[in-house]
Amino acid sequence: MGKKKIYVTRRILEPALSILSRKCQVTLNKKPCPPSREEISKNVAGKAGILCMLTDRIDAEVMDKAGSNLQVISSYSTGFEHIDVKEATARGIYVTYTADILAEATADLAFGLILACARNIVSADEYTRNKKWKIAWSPDLMLGYNVHGSTLGIIGLGRIGSAVARRARGFNMKVLYYNRKRNRQLESELRVTYAALDELLAQSDFVSIHTTLNSASNQLIDRTKLRLMKKTAFLINTARGQVVKEVDLVRALERNQIAGAGLDVFETEPLPRSNPLLKMKNVVLLPHIGSATYQTRSKMAEVAARNLLDVLVEKKEPNPKFLVNPEVKNLRPL
Ligand code: DGY
Repeated sequence: MGKKKIYVTRRILEPALSILSRKCQVTLNKKPCPPSREEISKNVAGKAGILCMLTDRIDAEVMDKAGSNLQVISSYSTGFEHIDVKEATARGIYVTYTADILAEATADLAFGLILACARNIVSADEYTRNKKWKIAWSPDLMLGYNVHGSTLGIIGLGRIGSAVARRARGFNMKVLYYNRKRNRQLESELRVTYAALDELLAQSDFVSIHTTLNSASNQLIDRTKLRLMKKTAFLINTARGQVVKEVDLVRALERNQIAGAGLDVFETEPLPRSNPLLKMKNVVLLPHIGSATYQTRSKMAEVAARNLLDVLVEKKEPNPKFLVNPEVKNLRPL
């Protein structure tokens, strides 16, 4: 039997691509940008596997274009809201993702944003570079806020939220968390305190979002929630832009209702040039780089490739930790 045909929607880090090419017939999008809807439809035709990114919408229409050969959709991401999982499951297609591989790297970045916001790191760099630093030392230059000893509110105590909580301990922070389900075991393990969302917002100096995007978290942080935050507090988002109602955040920042925001994710990505956030001084903006370290991205590539090969070549179930739709095993046993 010949090699199985697969479509890889972006160039991923080695050695994953070479491993895939040895075992499968790979069609690769070599362009540095996501394939268009038309390109996806054309390239998935007749493929047994798709290795996609969070920027590729994989819905029933794409599955139709792929045809009945399609057995696995392997996403190079921890979020999988871009895939119609229900539809895939009904068709007996395995859906995999890279689960918690990026938790530690994303937690590092969330902490970076906390520090950057609190201590004006980005604006201070710009100030120094642009030769605005004229007086040797000043008692009130670039004053910020303490991170150590402050209160951190974590929305979503999953893998990433927990990794942020562990870092906060090193800064002697008081950590509150809000989850749909309270987790008493994690509370004692991480020494964090459960709080209702409104209470967390009212008490925290830094509110860091780590929830997945779902119907309950969509626009969870809106005008009414932002109003509960302290005037001196910062909102940090490294999860999904849609968790925050962006127009409401812009309004709160314009009115200095909160001290600032550190954002790695946005409602629309890339950030449209007309987005008012781009002109604001009390924000730190990053281009969705939570997991962007050499080590993490190459591990994600390896896991995404392995998940796909498990189904197509090894004919074995992927590691349950990476399988989004375990029900599929009964529909299409391998
Ligand atoms: C993901 O994988 O879902 C992240 O947002 C990107 O690394």
